[in-house]
Amino acid sequence: MIAVSRYAVFGHPVAHSLSPRLHALFAAQTGVALEYVAIDAAPEAFAHTLRDFFAGGGHGANVTLPHKAAAFALADSHAAAVRRLGVANVLTKLPDGRIEAGSNDGAGMLADMRARRGIEPQGRDVLLLGAGGAAHAAGFALLDAGVQSLTITNRTGERAQALADALDGPPRVRVVRWDDLARSRSFDLIVNATSAGVQHAALALPSSLAHPRAVAYDLSYGPAARPFVEWAQRAGCASAFDGFGMLVETAAASFERWHGVRPDADAALQAISAGNRP
Ligand code: ATR
Repeated sequence: MIAVSRYAVFGHPVAHSLSPRLHALFAAQTGVALEYVAIDAAPEAFAHTLRDFFAGGGHGANVTLPHKAAAFALADSHAAAVRRLGVANVLTKLPDGRIEAGSNDGAGMLADMRARRGIEPQGRDVLLLGAGGAAHAAGFALLDAGVQSLTITNRTGERAQALADALDGPPRVRVVRWDDLARSRSFDLIVNATSAGVQHAALALPSSLAHPRAVAYDLSYGPAARPFVEWAQRAGCASAFDGFGMLVETAAASFERWHGVRPDADAALQAISAGNRP
């Protein structure tokens, strides 16, 4: 019997994840034999569940909320791109047995924005909702992409300030209190990096944040992104997207990191089209 290499996505909740389907599609495209499962681990169980997975023959793992900071902290080695973030979404078992942390969230977001959505963040005034792990990755990527300004807002104001401090700081990076959003200016690009949708919580946002050329982008996908996408449509944004294309890009990058072959992200996106995904 041929031993099939094992991969997984860890999250809580994780049942909604399309990562297993994507990796199965990529495996079929490239002829790589693998097993990829979703593992639901509550925060207190994450460390030992992850260690058991790698000790039991796991080769690599994707990590989604709420474990991205814990994944960074648990890793033995940190890829250059991840060091400034403090969060990781890819863990890879190295040949010497150490676990390496990586992040491709920011690159995946930019790739999807530019290649599929016609969004060029360079020179734009951007509002970033959230200050957790996803917001860290998005914030660094948007600054690298050359946004004109990045305004961060978060339900818990201190975390927005901490993220702003970790990023560029003023004048390009600013913080606005969530309670003051109704008095804020409008933005060219509004990025939702909160986990409100995944937790089935409503996001109360004023429509004055959008202008008729504004674009809205949610880092989550499917039903979790729907309330924000619908808010953006009601608020009069020119267009609004969920992060399914970003997920496909990050999955393709993880696959390439683990198997050394770049799968066809567009083909996978079409295979799991809007019609047959949640
Ligand atoms: P992730 O890795 O997905 O970023 P996280 O680090 O737990 O997960 O961060 C979740 C983000 O969503 C935080 O910015 C959180 O705000 P707080 O810092 O105030 O907790 C935000 N968030 C979660 N639920 C929210 C809600 N109902 N309304 C607004 N923001 C919410």
